[in-house]
Amino acid sequence: MRAVERALWAPSVHNTQPWRWWVGDDVVELYADRTHHLVGTDPDQRDLVISCGTALHHLQVALHQLGVPTVTERLPDPENRDLLARVQPTSGPIEDRNAGLANAIERRRTDRRAFAGPPQPAQLRRLARHAAWCGAALHPVLGVTAQARLLAILGEASSRQREVPGYPAELAIWTRRYHEAHDGIPPEARTVQFPTHSLRQFPAGHLLAGPRPQTALEDTATLVILTTDGDEPLDWLRAGEATSAVLLVATQLGLASTPLSQATEVDHTRRQLAHTILGVSAHPQIIIRIGLPIDAAELPATPRRPLSSILLPRG
Ligand SMILES: Cc1cc2nc3c(=O)[nH]c(=O)nc-3n(C[C@H](O)[C@H](O)[C@H](O)COP(=O)(O)O)c2cc1C
Repeated sequence: MRAVERALWAPSVHNTQPWRWWVGDDVVELYADRTHHLVGTDPDQRDLVISCGTALHHLQVALHQLGVPTVTERLPDPENRDLLARVQPTSGPIEDRNAGLANAIERRRTDRRAFAGPPQPAQLRRLARHAAWCGAALHPVLGVTAQARLLAILGEASSRQREVPGYPAELAIWTRRYHEAHDGIPPEARTVQFPTHSLRQFPAGHLLAGPRPQTALEDTATLVILTTDGDEPLDWLRAGEATSAVLLVATQLGLASTPLSQATEVDHTRRQLAHTILGVSAHPQIIIRIGLPIDAAELPATPRRPLSSILLPRG
């Protein structure tokens, strides 16, 4: 229960927290909560499953910190595709690579401000190793030409999405929650003005964005694209686990991060990412913006639903 409670700090698209958990004596099951599917924003339910994958990885990391080695079955029941994962304790050693990562769970934030500089190449290599352990590849987009192309694709995704029925309504619903809501993106997590064109345009919030670059290319963040070999729900789940690993390791390294999913939500731009940026047959799942935070002050945490409201009843 303690580990599940910590897994609730995982990031999710629009902070929808689209998961349900069942906790038995020696098993934890993770279910997709499709009532929180963003139909206009995320037509394939890719983000929904990626979000659940981030929570699955958080759970594993939290259990490992408690000294519990785990074995995970992904999509174990072909008759029930809502059951995304079953995690059980096992004998054997704890995976070293997760050591210390749990300490980043409560400290990690989605940072939508300007960044103060890019990550070091060695840090990017470390993030890539963690993504690979989870079954995804991390491609940093480096070089002015590739970056300019990627920014154009992000801009295109943004303008195409504005025309998608339901998208503006979902954006409004999840950014204008009622007082004391336990989900959605509060104004404290949104910036007063946009520091770069690469970010999703949420309604203005309270956070000071930091210095605004003259051109989009002057954003000092590095954008990385996570890909998987396949493009099925199992791949999305693994991409979510890799996203969590990258974000937690980045936090551990003192780096700021922003998951960016618009270009992978829109079919056309997802294909463009694969063909014009990556030139590989792998499937882009999410983009992550990584860099140095503009200051050391901790950003406020976004709210989460309490454990009691996401647990499925026993029996
Ligand atoms: C699959 C996925 C897609 C996301 N897409 C975006 C995005 O496009 N833009 C953005 O600013 N944040 C995005 N986020 C971050 C969420 O909005 C964020 O995790 C949530 O509001 C909770 O806040 P926290 O990460 O600070 O705990 C995404 C997160 C996930 C897991």
